[in-house]
Amino acid sequence: MRTLLTNIHLLCQVEGENEARHIVAGKAMAILPFVENAWLLIENDLIHSYGTMQDIPVIAADKTIDASGRLVLPSWCDSHTHLVFAASRDQEFVDRIKGLSYEDIARRGGGILNSAAKLNAISEDELYAQSYHRLLQLISQGTGAIEIKSGYGLSVEGELKMLRVIRKLKENIAIPIKATLLAAHAYPIDYKEDHDGYLNLIINQLLPIVATEGLADYMDVFCEKGFFSVSETDRLLEAGWKYGLKPKIHANQLYYSGGVQAGIRNNAVSVDHLECVGEEEIAALKSGNTIPTLLPAAAFFLGIQYQPARKIIDAGLPVCLASDYNPGSCPSGNIPLLLTIACTQLKMTPEEAINAVTLNGAAAMELANSHGTIKKGKKANLIITRKMSSFAQIPYDFGNNPVEKMILNGKIT
Ligand code: NIG
Ligand code: FE
Repeated sequence: MRTLLTNIHLLCQVEGENEARHIVAGKAMAILPFVENAWLLIENDLIHSYGTMQDIPVIAADKTIDASGRLVLPSWCDSHTHLVFAASRDQEFVDRIKGLSYEDIARRGGGILNSAAKLNAISEDELYAQSYHRLLQLISQGTGAIEIKSGYGLSVEGELKMLRVIRKLKENIAIPIKATLLAAHAYPIDYKEDHDGYLNLIINQLLPIVATEGLADYMDVFCEKGFFSVSETDRLLEAGWKYGLKPKIHANQLYYSGGVQAGIRNNAVSVDHLECVGEEEIAALKSGNTIPTLLPAAAFFLGIQYQPARKIIDAGLPVCLASDYNPGSCPSGNIPLLLTIACTQLKMTPEEAINAVTLNGAAAMELANSHGTIKKGKKANLIITRKMSSFAQIPYDFGNNPVEKMILNGKIT
């Protein structure tokens, strides 16, 4: 099956056949390579070739789509979500408006523990149905690869239930899904005073099952004051490595908690959140290959300080952006809105922000060989936008969905 897109106004984030960009960093993030007035040929599920309309060869295609006035981009790669959850936490949203902080709510048993109680009370089928619906909504907004975490089970059965739901999503939805074990998201009530007991449960009971059933790709820990300490994080990540789970961790959201350094020390694929980043964190990031992943939609929703994206990029580092979709700190996985927040609040240019959710998002899920750019041989997971004149219009026209059509595995959805 060959599908040809013609008259594309801007074909964005293109890569030549002999290029191998696995991530973009520093000044290079300001460049989003594009072809104006382009064609693109898809063969089965892969990108076959592209070029300019002036030089279009004779192409036999089964289907031709006229993309006049539209942009075509690689679909978004959202490398940090908690999309599998049981219920809304809108009451906590109202409590925060009235003055309580995220930590106040967590201390009185709300927050993650509230989500855990709700998740343990519903069936796997119900959890799957809700999560499936959410994922379809994200796809309609341009997401074409995603990472999903556990972390609202906080018990062996609850965490396995979440990971099995993620596995079922993988089986039924045609985009790459990476699964992350986040049992260390909060201490469950029964283990509030027995941290060792919970760490032992994760390491000795949960991890072996997760590994045997192949239920997770990564291991996450909420490394933060009041949640998991640096030494607890080290212990958990070392245990994860023994089972082949690479770390991707929550770090430095609320405090300068040493989480960034812990992630780098444990060869994390990424350290995520990073509201609190100073010179020491920058120096540590420069010493390794761990990807700084910023989640500004969560900072927006919680009304806390934003991540210093400029400082990180200007230090020559890459920045990845991800949604953090979850019922507490960010009940939205809308990437176009995330791009607006990144541009207006973090002062990232549209080029930098789009690089951060395409190629760098793919890199943060170890998918850069197959996703994140428009390159011969990569997966044809693509966005065709509405009519628009420039890629700045995606973050500019905020609140509106830029996506007109999604192509997944070469098929128009
Ligand atoms: O990434 N910070 C920790 N975890 C999530 C929020 C989880 C929740 O509140 O349910 C986050 O923001
Ligand atoms: Fe998160």
